[in-house]
Amino acid sequence: MFPPGFAWGAATSAYQIEGGWQADSKGPSIWDTFCREKGRVFDDQNGDFACNSYELWEKDLECIQQLGLTHYRLSLSWARLLPDGTTQHVNKRGVQYYNKVIDDLLACDVLPMVTLYHFDLPQALQDRGGWTSPDIAILFDKYANFCFQTFGDRVKLWITINEPYVCAKLGHEDGIHAPGLKEKGTAPYVVGHNMLRAHAMAWHSYSSVYREKQGGAVSLAINSDWFEPLDPGCDEDIAAAARALAFTLGWFAWPVFVTGDYPEVMKSAIDAQSEKLGYRGTSRLPRFSEDEPTILGTADFFALNYYTSRKVKPRGGCEKTLSTKSDQDTEEVVDPSWPISGLSWLAVVPDGLRKLLKYIKDTLSSPAVYITENGFSQVGPLQMKDVHRCEFYKSTISELSKAVQEDGVDVRGYFAWSLMDNFEWADGFSVRFGLFHVDFSHAELNRNIYQSGQEYANIISKYKSDQRKSEQLSKSNVDC
Ligand code: GAL
Repeated sequence: MFPPGFAWGAATSAYQIEGGWQADSKGPSIWDTFCREKGRVFDDQNGDFACNSYELWEKDLECIQQLGLTHYRLSLSWARLLPDGTTQHVNKRGVQYYNKVIDDLLACDVLPMVTLYHFDLPQALQDRGGWTSPDIAILFDKYANFCFQTFGDRVKLWITINEPYVCAKLGHEDGIHAPGLKEKGTAPYVVGHNMLRAHAMAWHSYSSVYREKQGGAVSLAINSDWFEPLDPGCDEDIAAAARALAFTLGWFAWPVFVTGDYPEVMKSAIDAQSEKLGYRGTSRLPRFSEDEPTILGTADFFALNYYTSRKVKPRGGCEKTLSTKSDQDTEEVVDPSWPISGLSWLAVVPDGLRKLLKYIKDTLSSPAVYITENGFSQVGPLQMKDVHRCEFYKSTISELSKAVQEDGVDVRGYFAWSLMDNFEWADGFSVRFGLFHVDFSHAELNRNIYQSGQEYANIISKYKSDQRKSEQLSKSNVDC
């Protein structure tokens, strides 16, 4: 049910799995700092050791092979490669580590998809203003150039920034992700803006310097829930669902895929709320400058992280303080019929993925799409026979195949989150997203496949054997 060459992957990120937080001259990142502040993370845990993939990479590779993955999505730790964030100091041991990972993957016929930035800014750059500073775009572009130059002969799929929405909102408005800022209604828009500028600069660098020789593709990973009106017959609910989509997917997708600018509904909602709350000064949503590289068209494919869905109605403008939520003016509810995975926010809605993909096709001119993250969490008593997660993967992949077959969405690949249990940000190790269980109570950190991992391996193996059969069939037709 999936096209030839479909990418079957799993994803991880550096801070969540590597450990080795000070190994071989790695610099500190904002997550190293954040985790040291009491009360930030569940049980004051941290990613100092995590799955220790820095030393146990071969174990990860075994898991990748056991699943039969065709692709593996990993992220590079900026501070491991460039300890102070700048290209003035390159950490050779960091380069060696990622060279080995990439070479080992390729030797096993697994293609890497590499994310340059997955939440872990070098602390040295945070000390210079981090993502709120306009200079960050140039620093990121230099880092990206360094990575393209160093690894681009072998890496053909790049993600510049993972989930700018999450970095902007959870890190700079809600304060529940590093760097833990709570500058409501202002910093998130500045951070999002600088992330878009940084992404676009890196994409332009790739296009002008590396693309011809390396032949890869570059995008950014945009996360979005699927939002639909609570009452599909109510105009206010329809408008509220459209606003929710504009403030989540549209915030980053519109500038890159549609107009080069933020969605109109977002701009007008922010301005109206500023006026209502007596906010003086220029718009809280920065404008793109014509003197800088254009944003429109800076993605070679759409990279979607999808986890859940919501039903939406208006909040009624009752918020009295500035925040992205008050600008958005929506109330989001979970349909009682949707099962909940381990986490309260993670309602399981596989057909929401299909609907979101159709929306992306219809509004963003049918881009090629990779699902770069999608997963199901386990909390509480350990279940190696994780039947609910098995069901989740089966029904999600079935919805995905309908998106391809029936809706004509150009889906090129699917990456499960995550290869193995790991450090789940503010939830620490209390939440398990892995296809492999990691035994964090023993230093060996053994990885063991969950039933859902086996289920996913079976799906991949079936796909591969169907592909072989159809290749043989078309070969024998040609021979005839
Ligand atoms: C995403 C994030 C991942 C992972 C996942 C599960 O937002 O990119 O790193 O934590 O959520 O919550």
